[in-house]
Order: sequence, then structure tokens, then C-alpha cells
Amino acid sequence: MADTAAVVPNPAADTSPDEPGIIGIGAEMAERLADLVTRNTTYLTDSVMQVPLEHYRSPERHQEELDQLFLTGTLCAGPSAAVANPGDFTVHEVLDKSLLITRDDAGVAHVLLNYCTHRGAIIAEGEGCTKRHTCPYHAWSFDPGGTLVGIPGAEGFDGMDRSMTGLFELPSAEAHGFIWYSLDPTATVDPASHLGPFGAELERWGYADFWKVSVMDLEFPANWKATMEAFNETYHFPFVHQGTIAGGVISNTTTFDTYGRHHRLGVPLVTFKDVIEGRAEYDPNFNLSVLYFCCPDLMLANGPFGVEVVQITPTLEPNRSRLRHTFMAKAAPTNDAEREVAEAFSSPAAEAIRVEDGPVLSLAGRGLQEGGHGFSSIGRNEPGVQNIHNQIDAIIN
Ligand code: FES
Ligand SMILES: [Fe+2]
Repeated sequence: MADTAAVVPNPAADTSPDEPGIIGIGAEMAERLADLVTRNTTYLTDSVMQVPLEHYRSPERHQEELDQLFLTGTLCAGPSAAVANPGDFTVHEVLDKSLLITRDDAGVAHVLLNYCTHRGAIIAEGEGCTKRHTCPYHAWSFDPGGTLVGIPGAEGFDGMDRSMTGLFELPSAEAHGFIWYSLDPTATVDPASHLGPFGAELERWGYADFWKVSVMDLEFPANWKATMEAFNETYHFPFVHQGTIAGGVISNTTTFDTYGRHHRLGVPLVTFKDVIEGRAEYDPNFNLSVLYFCCPDLMLANGPFGVEVVQITPTLEPNRSRLRHTFMAKAAPTNDAEREVAEAFSSPAAEAIRVEDGPVLSLAGRGLQEGGHGFSSIGRNEPGVQNIHNQIDAIIN
């Protein structure tokens, strides 16, 4: 068995924790991963976890999670890059509510309820850039901050207090390249207290300067926690992603670190084996991938080219969840060729979720809903999955 301290070439010597992105964290993580890869093992928790199937299917448990996590807690509305410029907007369905996420002329992001204050019609759909959101029903129009700015036949509304007829705004705050918000209109959104030390970890990547390449929305017939589980282990890679992403990853091998309720998984890429075995130079950008779980609704998968932002939310039904996948490149393209490269990276990443994870999540959703086996078993090799349940249980109980 190789001496792993010697085979990763001086990781600590040429990197600093203060450096951005993977460079700053790569050295220490690389040493741990080299040890795990060499011993053909992974970070292991103390014991196998048994999650009662009731946690995936009981309407009462589901309502508790909605009440305590989603209707009152801090959530992620998406990356800042989703609405990078004034006028940009994106519509996102969360808990069967339609949210209109915008950026106003002053550069401030807003999370608005996407319902017209005239007679309730959904106003915007999809994504784009506009100075005016015009309702399809009677064409009332609103600026990106949600202020009512136009009423056809305005005399019909003489005497109405227009200050009361802007789009309903939810509390939000932008930090570390993401927009944080609450579905509770009375809440104060404080990313620093929500994230704790995880904020500094996010900050090191400079996500605020990333560029949105693509957005994909999916719905799965599976509880939201089951969907989130699939993004917190690489155990399934050889079986679900053979022929695609599994070819680039040393599967079922991760480091595990926690930041309050949130966590980080370090994943070795197959190129890392070449480094360990002395065939290649160490370059953390191309040897390691870093995954993050930000409790309760956000998952990030960092790769050499950018990051996959995966937002997972429940619906009002226990056995149905929504996923928004946003692929962000580290920088905006400066020409068509760079744009094509960005799209060439984003498309397979999105397709792996849609075509490969999607079907197994549907299968898992059936058994979690209908199975008679009492509980699901989360292995010692699935620390991220165990931590999701630990953190949710700690909030609920
Ligand atoms: S419902 Fe929107 S303008 Fe009437
Ligand atoms: Fe997967």
C-alpha cells in the first residue's frame, strides 16, 4: 500500500486555505482522499441509520416539515446569476406557490409572489429580461420591484390606493452569490445566522461572479428528502450513471465535513488515481469535486468548469418533489465558441439527472410510499444522506 502522504505532491506547500475555490481547500481534502482511495474505502459513520418510511409518506410528518422548514425557515431562491442584470427574472414554483424572482434597476433582487393584485392571475412565466411584467388578463403592469406602474382604463380604479397594489414581496437577502428568502412574510432573512461558518465556505468560490448557462425544472414522484438523498452520495454512480458521469468519478468514496446544519462531501475524480500512482501532476481543479448540502433545500456540485446548483423542494403532497437544476460556468463567455463549450458541459449534467436519476427516483418513490419494510437503510458510507435526516429530525423534534 502506498504512502499517501508522499504521493500527493506537496499539496500543502503550493496551496493556501485563503485561496479561492478548490485551491484553498484542495490540499487538506486531497490528503484525506488519497488515504481513502489508497485503502479503497470511504468516510464511514459509526452505524447504519434506519429512517422510518413514515418520514417519507406520513401526511402529518410532511406537514411538520412544511411548517417548520419550508413555511418558516430560510430557503434559497436560487443563484444570483439566475437574475444577473437589472430586469432579469425567473419564475420558480415552490410548495405550489409561483414565485417571481427579479432584479430591479438599482440591482436589488426581489422574491415576489407571481400573482396579479387585480384578480389574481399568474403574471410571468419562464425566464427573461423585461422592464415591465404585464398580466395576461387585463394587462396591469408591474416593474421588476413589484410596483404597479400601469392600469389600462385607469379611471375605473380612481380612488384605489395604489400603494397597496404592488406584487406581494417576501423577505429576502442576497449573500455569497445566492438569494435567500422566507415564505413567511413576517420573517427576517439573515443569511449569516442561517449559514454560520458555511457562509465563508460558499464565499471562497466566488459564485456571485459565475454565469448562468442553463436551467431545467423537473418533478419526481418521490418525497423531497428521497430526491435530496440522490445528490448526497456517489454510491449509486456505477449503477445509475455508468457510461456517463460515473466514468469520471471514483464512486462511493468521499470525505465528509459539517458546517452547522450544512455539509461538504469531497469526491475524487478518476484523474486523482493517476496522481496518487505518480502518473500525473496534482491539480485540484481537475482531480477533485466538492459537493455541498445547504439545509434544507440546496445542493451544489462543483466541477472543473463550474457548478451545478440543485434546488429541491417539496410539493403539498408527501410523495412528490420538485427540482431546479441550474448550471453555472465560472465566467461568462466572451465569444460563441466559449458559449458552446459552456453548453457542452451543462447539457450532459442536466441530462444525467433527467434521464438517469429521474427513473430511479420514481422507482424509489414507489417503495418509500408503499413498501412494507418499515424503514429505509442509510449506510455508514452515506454520511451526507444520514446528515440530511439528522438535521431535519433535529429541527422537527
Ligand atoms: S388579473 Fe391581472 S390585470 Fe386583471
Ligand atoms: Fe445521480
